[in-house]
This record gives sequence, C-alpha cells and structure tokens, in this order.
Amino acid sequence: MKITIIGTGYVGLTTGVCLSDAGHQVICADSDIDKINSLNNGVIPIYEYGLEDIINRNIKISRLFFTNDIKMAVEKSDIIYITVDTPQNEDGSANLRNVYGVVEYISGLLLKNKIVVLKSTVPVGTTDKIQNILKGCSVVYNPEFLRQGSALNDFMHPERIILGSNSVDAVNVLKEIYGKFCKNIIVMDSKSAEITKYAANTFLSAKISFMNEIAQICEKSGANIEMVKEGISADSRIGEGFLSAGLGYGGSCFPKDVNALIYTASELGVSADILKAVNKRNKLQITLFLQKITDRFGTDLSGKTFAIWGLSYKPNTNDTRNAPSVAVINDLIEKGAKITVYDPRAVDNIKKIFGSKINYASNMYDALNYADALLLITEWNEFKNPDFEIIKSKLNYPVIFDGRNLYIKNNLNNIGFEYYCVGKAVNS
Ligand SMILES: NC(=O)c1ccc[n+]([C@@H]2O[C@H](COP(=O)([O-])OP(=O)(O)OC[C@H]3O[C@@H](n4cnc5c(N)ncnc54)[C@H](O)[C@@H]3O)[C@@H](O)[C@H]2O)c1
Repeated sequence: MKITIIGTGYVGLTTGVCLSDAGHQVICADSDIDKINSLNNGVIPIYEYGLEDIINRNIKISRLFFTNDIKMAVEKSDIIYITVDTPQNEDGSANLRNVYGVVEYISGLLLKNKIVVLKSTVPVGTTDKIQNILKGCSVVYNPEFLRQGSALNDFMHPERIILGSNSVDAVNVLKEIYGKFCKNIIVMDSKSAEITKYAANTFLSAKISFMNEIAQICEKSGANIEMVKEGISADSRIGEGFLSAGLGYGGSCFPKDVNALIYTASELGVSADILKAVNKRNKLQITLFLQKITDRFGTDLSGKTFAIWGLSYKPNTNDTRNAPSVAVINDLIEKGAKITVYDPRAVDNIKKIFGSKINYASNMYDALNYADALLLITEWNEFKNPDFEIIKSKLNYPVIFDGRNLYIKNNLNNIGFEYYCVGKAVNS
C-alpha cells in the first residue's frame, strides 16, 4: 500500500516507521521543516528503543521518506493518516486547530476514493464532521494506544485495534494492513471509537489517582502501600497495571485527555465528578511531595541544594511534557533552592525549559555533589540499584525523597538514611 502520514511526531513517526517495516511504501510529512531536515539527516527527534535502526533500515531500501511537501505526499498515496497533535485549550477542551488545518488543506486537493485514517485523539463527533468536509473520501477513526517508552513494540503487538467507521470497504483495507500486527480488530461507529480512546486513557489515569489516594491513607495510618498493591493486584478483576503510588501521571496525553473528557461531559450536561477528582488528586501528589521537602528543610530553601534523578515524565522516553520534574523544579527554585539534575535522555528537553537556572550533571553520582538531599522523580532502570554508600558520602545529609517508591524503606533506614516515599509513614 502507498501510505502518507501527516504529522511526524511521536505517533506519526512510530506509525510510519512500523508500517514501512511491514512492507508498505510510506511518506512521513510534517509542517515542521526543522524536524523533517533532522530526520533526513539521520537525527531522530524522539528517543524510543530501536527506532533509529528501523528508520535507517527502511530509508536504505527506499520504503520510507520524510518531506514537508504535504501536497505531494497526499497525492502520491491511497491512504492518508492524520497524526497531528491535539493539545489542550485553556478551558480544558481539545485544540483541533491542527487537525482541521490538515483536513481543510487536503479537502482543497479534491481527493477522491482515498481512505483518511484519523489517529489523533479527538472529541466525540469529530470524525463525522471531518467526513462531511472530505466528501469523496472514507474517513476512519483509528485511535492509537501506544505507550511512549515502548512505542514500537506496542504498535507492532497491540492488544486490540479499534476502527470507527461505517465504510465497509475502508474497514476491510485497514483490516488487511493491521491483520499483520493484531488479530483482535474491533469495528464500531466512529463516535464509540472516539469515546473508547478517552475512556481508556482516563480509566488508567483514574487507577493511578485512586492508588495515590489509598497511599495517603496508608501513610497516615501506618500501613504500607506496596503491600496493599501486592494484595489487590493479585485479584484478576483489578489487574496489576497502573497501581504504583507516586508523583502521579504526566506526559502529553493523560492530563489533557482527562480535561478534554471533563469538557465534553460538561457540554453534554453530564457532571464528570469522578474525572474531576482524578485530576485534583493528580495535582495533589506534587503538592504532598513538595510538602515533605519543606517539612524537612523549611519553606525558605535559599542556601539549599537538591539533586534530582529523573526528568522525563516516565522512564524510557526523553519527553518532558507535563513531567512532574518540571513542577517540582519550578517550586523549589521559587523557594530559593539550587538544583542539579541528571536524566539518561531528557536533559536536552529540560534545558529548553530551565536553561542556566539549574545545573546539569553528566552522571547520576555527580548530580549529588554539594547537594543536601536526593529527589528521585522518574524511575529509570539505572536508578534502581544505586550504590548507597556513594550517595551517603556525597550528600550533605543522608536524605532521600523518593517520588516513585523505588527503594525499600527499612533497608535504607538501617543504613542511616532518612527516607521519604509515598504511602509509607516516615516512622513506620
Ligand atoms: N504521544 C503519545 O504517546 C500518544 C499516544 C496515543 C495517542 N496520541 C495522540 O496522537 C496525537 C499526536 O500526538 P503526538 O504525541 O504524536 O504529537 P507530537 O506533538 O509529538 O507530533 C505532532 C506532529 O504534528 C505536526 N503537525 C502539526 N500540525 C501540522 C500540520 N498542519 N501539518 C503537518 N504536520 C503538522 C507537528 O509539527 C508535530 O511534528 C495526539 O492527538 C495525541 O493525543 C499520542
């Protein structure tokens, strides 16, 4: 098949690269000329394990191209994917400017009989509106469920594919494309598919917020959230995923999708009390973490230095959009603290936000030099088994604030650390 992807970001690049690796002829287009130039020069703008190899392999055999000539890209293909970003408006609603920008542009190209696959996350009813604009084409809503950090694997081995359309022909073509990756293809109307995407993301966000609320109850009562997690996740009705207490969710999807669904609900006259509570609890997790620091070191942090391990919103990605690290650093700077950070991949993105306001270490132990305490924000693998003797010898005080419950509290207390984590009382 000849396939064009419009919007070569996280989802578009992954989609394009995986489809070309599956044997299709793929053009990845983007309006960002710098991004296209970088890709054409072999510089990949995002970090995903294995991505560079697979891009190079498919460019070499001329199955994958990058361009900012969207007209050419659309005219050359039979299937057009729309994978542009749908960020959050100030009122919480989804900003569809880029989606409609692409739709209006391609509607002017008088396309006939092409299949337009909308992958961007959009509010209920959007696909129908786009179908009305692109009259000669069949529009299918095909939400994406990949996780940053395991994007290629998730795309190539999805648990399900959702196709929202009433065009039997278009659905059959997409079934042929996706049949290679997944047997569980669920076809439904586009409105149900749109809600499915939001319901999936907000349900996972709700699991995280629920567990964080239970964690605070554990902390106050002397219980241990890690034991509670083990106890409830053994129940297959509850499942194991998204039950880790900590600093909450971030990234470019969960926060905006929770807000967008709250907005949609209010437009429909539905009171989204659960979703609002999910949102509120997620913000509270940062406040509670910062409170532990000020309880220990005081509200005026001038003269104090903190080492931060982990900046990306989750491990195995360089993405810092809505990362808890950003909120934590901003607050500590405001209180007068000095900050030294280390992250295996996300330092360049954090530099774009904080520049010379903070210090950057080239390895995890150097970040501890002259620091009063260590703050663990993102649970990268390399932070899981550190040398605690080195940590203790470098820090001014043997104090760790762990926002991801990475270490075992009793073990750290036994070797002389003050260890603050989530869901376990300080003195338990
Ligand atoms: N990132 C994820 O993990 C993920 C997962 C599932 C779904 N989604 C959804 O997929 C969509 C895309 O997300 P993303 O993270 O890939 O976004 P992104 O910001 O990484 O990439 C979007 C790309 O679209 C390009 N673009 C914007 N307007 C354009 C236009 N008019 N013409 C051509 N290119 C244009 C941008 O330059 C950018 O490269 C969003 O709706 C998001 O909610 C994201």
